[in-house]
Amino acid sequence: MSVKYYYSNVLKYVSNEEIDSLEAKALDARSKLLNKTGKGNDFVGWVKWPREITQSEVDDIITTANDLRKLGNILVVCGIGGSYLGTKACDSMLSDYYDNNPYKLIYSGKSFSSTEMSETLEYLKDKDFSVVCISKSGSTTETAISFRFLRNLLKKKYPTDYNKHIVAITSKENSSLDTLSKKEGYKEFFIPDDIGGRYSVLTAVGLMPLAFRGYAINKILSGAKDALDEFEKKDFSENPMLKYASVRILLSAKGYSVELLAAYEEKLRYIGEWWKQLFGESEGKEHKGIFPASVIYSTDLHSMGQYVQDGQRFLFETVLNIRNPKFDIVNGFDQDDIDNLNYLFGKKLDYVNRQAMTATAIAHVEGGVSNAIIDIEKLDEYNFGYLVYFFMASCGVSGYLLDVNPFNQEGVEAYKKEMFKLLGKPIK
Ligand code: PA5
Repeated sequence: MSVKYYYSNVLKYVSNEEIDSLEAKALDARSKLLNKTGKGNDFVGWVKWPREITQSEVDDIITTANDLRKLGNILVVCGIGGSYLGTKACDSMLSDYYDNNPYKLIYSGKSFSSTEMSETLEYLKDKDFSVVCISKSGSTTETAISFRFLRNLLKKKYPTDYNKHIVAITSKENSSLDTLSKKEGYKEFFIPDDIGGRYSVLTAVGLMPLAFRGYAINKILSGAKDALDEFEKKDFSENPMLKYASVRILLSAKGYSVELLAAYEEKLRYIGEWWKQLFGESEGKEHKGIFPASVIYSTDLHSMGQYVQDGQRFLFETVLNIRNPKFDIVNGFDQDDIDNLNYLFGKKLDYVNRQAMTATAIAHVEGGVSNAIIDIEKLDEYNFGYLVYFFMASCGVSGYLLDVNPFNQEGVEAYKKEMFKLLGKPIK
């Protein structure tokens, strides 16, 4: 088992008996996901997807990524929400702080920032690049506007074969991106109809750009497959996904309505961003749902730590712990010890980080914030795949425990409706 869930620091807030009392409901939620019988059951294609994606699709993704690499070392990922956050989460988790990888991903189509768009076009104008436009609906305005700018730049740079620099990832039906793609002859991948944006990182949506960066996408899928096995086979007492979902629902029922996902490693910042979309968009319905927030400790202990320790008591913490850091380093000795650090001489820096984590847990639990741990073996492709599946399965169960449909996002339409009115978009 590569991802574990420890919740002894929750038991002051929620008892083992209370957790066990959710066993039947959690198992029922799991069956509904596996058998496609729950709310939103036409959007649970992700549940068995790690087993269902074919090796020939994976090979096609890798070949396409390699073809794009021959055309330039930059791939622009043009997409918003679930169409880019999983890619960014994986790349941030696995790439080096000072990255020498010549193949770069840059992101576009995720806002209406005129400054970002202008600077992106300026940055790209004298570079060789390609674009992967990712939109399940094929009509998301942020992405479509950005794609038009990028497409026009590609047309200017490569008048005869600009279409070779473009890959479209979208739906087979009713997608204007698909129509455009067919007209202009882009390479296309299709997002299965029954997999929604925030559950799509293990499809071409995430795998294509990640293959361009050089990640072993087969290993990502193999981690996800093992997580699916665990989700399917382990009973309640040993199933970390069912336990995590149950604990968070019990905490929220007691008034702890904000979950703070904390990590002691900057590389997990975008896992937090991806996780916030996954849980926020899945659960925030019918005036229900836990508000997902994220922090990076110990950095944010110096900004948000005061609030967590002493502010309003509606928070509970879930900490992402990495069992084996990629690198470790030993604290040195200084003759003068003016900085008073010789007491740490010979101790590893990861040991210090770990003590900070344990100490913070003690202080927060004392102060009224429960503190569970999701433990990841190490930062690699396999564990990324395992972790994202762990969260998606937990989120599905958690949504069903809340009795909402975790797979729609009707609320997102409200701002669009108002915005289109203001922009004068013609009604078709
Ligand atoms: O989870 C979802 O479905 C959404 O958040 C989408 O990922 C996001 O809105 C982008 O949509 P699309 O891929 O259709 O452009």
